[in-house]
Amino acid sequence: MQLTHSTADARKHRNALTGTVALVPTMGALHAGHLKLIEHGRSLADHVLVSIFVNPTQFGPGEDFDRYPRTLEVDLERCQAAGAAGVFAPSVDQMYPPAAPDVQVDVPELTSDLEGAFRPSHFAGVCRVVMKFFNVIQPDIAVFGQKDYQQLKVIQAMVADLLMPVRVVGMPTMREDDGLAMSSRNRYLSADDRRHAVGAYKALLQAKRMIEDDGETDPAAVERAMQQTLEAHHFDVDYAVLRHPQTLARLDCVEPSLTHGVAALIAARLDEVRLIDNMIIGAS
Ligand code: PAJ
Repeated sequence: MQLTHSTADARKHRNALTGTVALVPTMGALHAGHLKLIEHGRSLADHVLVSIFVNPTQFGPGEDFDRYPRTLEVDLERCQAAGAAGVFAPSVDQMYPPAAPDVQVDVPELTSDLEGAFRPSHFAGVCRVVMKFFNVIQPDIAVFGQKDYQQLKVIQAMVADLLMPVRVVGMPTMREDDGLAMSSRNRYLSADDRRHAVGAYKALLQAKRMIEDDGETDPAAVERAMQQTLEAHHFDVDYAVLRHPQTLARLDCVEPSLTHGVAALIAARLDEVRLIDNMIIGAS
């Protein structure tokens, strides 16, 4: 497995590979969810490249950029074991050369709400860095997790609108045994909070039951129930909502018979640790 740090070396390595390439962009601190993306990439393309970069432009002031876990040595071992052909782990200066212009890439229709409302510059930073990675690596396929559902929709929209020649593939969320979605930030949960954290999954399952089994059609009733479940597990709730799974638009009425179903989306905090999770309900 090849490790590169500069954009020039990453390009050289990519161009030396024959056949198709899948890229898995990450911020490192890799867990089994990330590794699943790498393994899936291997089934879709001849080679998988992984980028590991804690991207400063997607963190707001006061967010956890400085204390985001950086575990490159272990990450490299995991990438190798998962069959990656290479890892591109650039410095901030490689991705954002000093004095370079502050180019913005934004998808306003999908980013003003939900994560975008709580993290105003987040998606502009995500789009910018993902586009840079696509331009350096020029992958045929890029694999993302549905765990960051809004991010996946934003990237798909960016790629479609800017006619970028890459196929974006979304993979289901990997969960711990109790249902907690795997996340690099879970390690910050205290033992007590870790026990409460399962409340996020329970709230999503409750939404699923209400819609699929009880036939609830009022989004507000489902959203209230999710909120209550989260609060019963000590969460401070940023949002717990139902949305159209493609446009992320608000719904007047829940129609689980829609081919694309309904997206239940949650962001909530246990002490200082902010968790997000989601579930697509009723998709046929
Ligand atoms: P990061 O949080 O490291 O996630 C990298 C990829 O792993 C994302 O596509 C994310 O959705 C996916 N992922 C995270 N947890 C997962 C889980 N439990 N199951 C399945 N997939 C999971 O998302 C980012 O980094 C950054 O925003 C990035 C796209 C790399 C741009 O900086």
